[in-house]
Amino acid sequence: MSKEVSFKELGFVNTKEMFRDAMKNGYAVPAYNFNNMEQLQAIITACQESRSPVILQVSKGARDYANPVLLRWMGRGVIEMMNTTGKPVPVALHLDHGDSFELAKSCIDSGFSSVMIDGSHLPYEENVALTKKVVEYAHKRDVTVEGELGVLAGIEEHVSSEKSHYTNPDDVEDFVKRTNVDSLAISIGTSHGAYKFKVSDGVMPELRFDILSEVERRLPGFPIVLHGASSVLQEYIAMINRYGGKMEGAVGIPEEQLRRAAKSAVCKINIDSDGRLVMTAVVRKVFAEKPAEFDPRKYLGPARSELVKMYKDKNEKVLGSAGRV
Ligand code: G3H
Ligand code: 13P
Ligand code: ZN
Repeated sequence: MSKEVSFKELGFVNTKEMFRDAMKNGYAVPAYNFNNMEQLQAIITACQESRSPVILQVSKGARDYANPVLLRWMGRGVIEMMNTTGKPVPVALHLDHGDSFELAKSCIDSGFSSVMIDGSHLPYEENVALTKKVVEYAHKRDVTVEGELGVLAGIEEHVSSEKSHYTNPDDVEDFVKRTNVDSLAISIGTSHGAYKFKVSDGVMPELRFDILSEVERRLPGFPIVLHGASSVLQEYIAMINRYGGKMEGAVGIPEEQLRRAAKSAVCKINIDSDGRLVMTAVVRKVFAEKPAEFDPRKYLGPARSELVKMYKDKNEKVLGSAGRV
């Protein structure tokens, strides 16, 4: 077993100060997922250029894909790179959807500054017990922990039993008090992936801001997290379909609803799918227009540039995190 590394040695920060400032000033910190070098470069460049703090999210799948040791060094590389450019911004390295104590511990021991333990699918008491165990281990190392209550809908669940998935505001005080988590992900109608709702008559469903308000009333000043918050930007869906893809009916959360959420106690907004769509759209375009191209830099490079633009737009126009550093 390799020795424990503190996130402080690597130059990351936990989410405490980030969320304190976001709460005070009515914006949300972006939490962007990455799996590879181009996504990581784009996220950091966009956040440096827009002067935004950032939470770099690593899922279990990303860790398996990229290799946990390499990932840690990629994270460290980001900090060193920012120091040489002279434009550092606060970066948290965060485990997204951790599903076991062992996974959370492994991330904490290898230098993550923040972890999510997602016990939302478990019976309530089991969720409390697992989350509490992770918090106890994490807090001894000053690592912050995100828990979750309520289950985000996939499209099938959304259709079959819509209501039961939302967070029950009656549970939140007890959960936070007993687990001592630092932030709480709640379910108010967002969902993961590129097919979030069935849109009937062109009308998008509203997020349940009434549940959010009730949670805020029960937990004043406590940081709330929104998962499944990609907007599924239609210009990229159109590009994907134009250049040989097949993504009919893909829709996400309207940007104005996210702007409204960001002004509330929502301090962290998770976005993964929008980045995937941008990359796919640009790579498809290059392949369609230049079928003889075979240098990965010639298609991943343009994808990376478009990603920078998209992430900057999010920080500036949706989350309100630009200019906060
Ligand atoms: O919420 C899930 C994230 O989008 C990560 O997805 O598990 O496919 O890496 P993944
Ligand atoms: P999206 O699929 O909407 O991008 O959600 C990402 C997410 O919640 C990561 O945890
Ligand atoms: Zn998520």
